[in-house]
Amino acid sequence: MVITGASSGIGLAAATAFARNGDDVVLLGRHPGRLQAAVESVRDAGRRTPAAYRADFARLEEVREVGRRVAAEHEQIHVLVNNAGQLAPARRLTADGFDPGMQVNHLSGFLLANLLVDRLRAAATDNEPARMVTTGSLAEAWGTLDVSRPGRRQISSWLAYGAGKQANLLFTIEAARRWGSYGIVPTCFFPGLIRSRFGRRSPLFTLARFAPALFQSSEQGAETLLWLANDPAALVPGGYFAWRRPMVATGRATNPDRARRLWDASLAAVGLERPAVDQAGQGVEGDRSGRGEG
Ligand SMILES: NC(=O)c1ccc[n+]([C@@H]2O[C@H](COP(=O)([O-])OP(=O)(O)OC[C@H]3O[C@@H](n4cnc5c(N)ncnc54)[C@H](OP(=O)(O)O)[C@@H]3O)[C@@H](O)[C@H]2O)c1
Repeated sequence: MVITGASSGIGLAAATAFARNGDDVVLLGRHPGRLQAAVESVRDAGRRTPAAYRADFARLEEVREVGRRVAAEHEQIHVLVNNAGQLAPARRLTADGFDPGMQVNHLSGFLLANLLVDRLRAAATDNEPARMVTTGSLAEAWGTLDVSRPGRRQISSWLAYGAGKQANLLFTIEAARRWGSYGIVPTCFFPGLIRSRFGRRSPLFTLARFAPALFQSSEQGAETLLWLANDPAALVPGGYFAWRRPMVATGRATNPDRARRLWDASLAAVGLERPAVDQAGQGVEGDRSGRGEG
């Protein structure tokens, strides 16, 4: 299991639960102190020290480097959890020239998944597909995402967050179409409103946390993630869930044409060539015979 955003909140709760179940866990985080503390919690839960990698998703070069290292050090990845996310300050563009919320919540996870797709493919078998689980949000409902320019500047943190979460769903849908023939099942979920470090600089979100009935723990937020990573009933390519049940999303977040356009524009934004083999069912290697390569 490779888990991004594993140094806090939902990702840490999931990593700890996976380790307790005996799974091999690989942690990605940004803050060195929190990442080290997460390593210790996961080690205590699983009696094995997990591999851990630090990368700031606001810097594509760090994502490329960590993607290369994880791919080099792990031949197979059974589950990739794209969970890192943030209500990013909207003041400045990133060093890569993108809206910070769009980069952290979508472009970097998209890049990492593309760098690791061969490792997921290598893990998939006829009996047990590989899985990619992405942490989405109800916030997709207010996202105004220009799918042809995913890194375009957004006018506020919350709008950028909504657009990033809309991108998470579109990414899941298009990944299911492109990578299904590799034996990879991508899904997305809304964890509920969770008490974590998320939104701690937002007065609105901080205020809302004073209504305890609205919020659940990180462990509760991770429940659907764990189910999507493990349960045979959760093998629904491109599915969107909350509380282990199918969840309805807006048309803007589920439109297949928007999903295709976003994929192509995201590939260009993160500097990846359009792969020749990613057209599900159409490509040169459209079946799973290449499993185990690389
Ligand atoms: N909390 C909620 O109510 C809620 C609701 C819907 C969806 N979500 C989603 O759930 C996911 C997890 O959030 P959470 O609630 O567990 O919040 P959290 O406690 O703040 O955890 C966020 C995780 O993402 C990582 N992260 C944030 N910015 C990053 C960056 N620039 N580069 C690399 N990693 C970064 C953090 O790393 P560091 O700690 O190392 O900085 C941390 O591990 C996010 O995708 C969030 O959008 C949360």
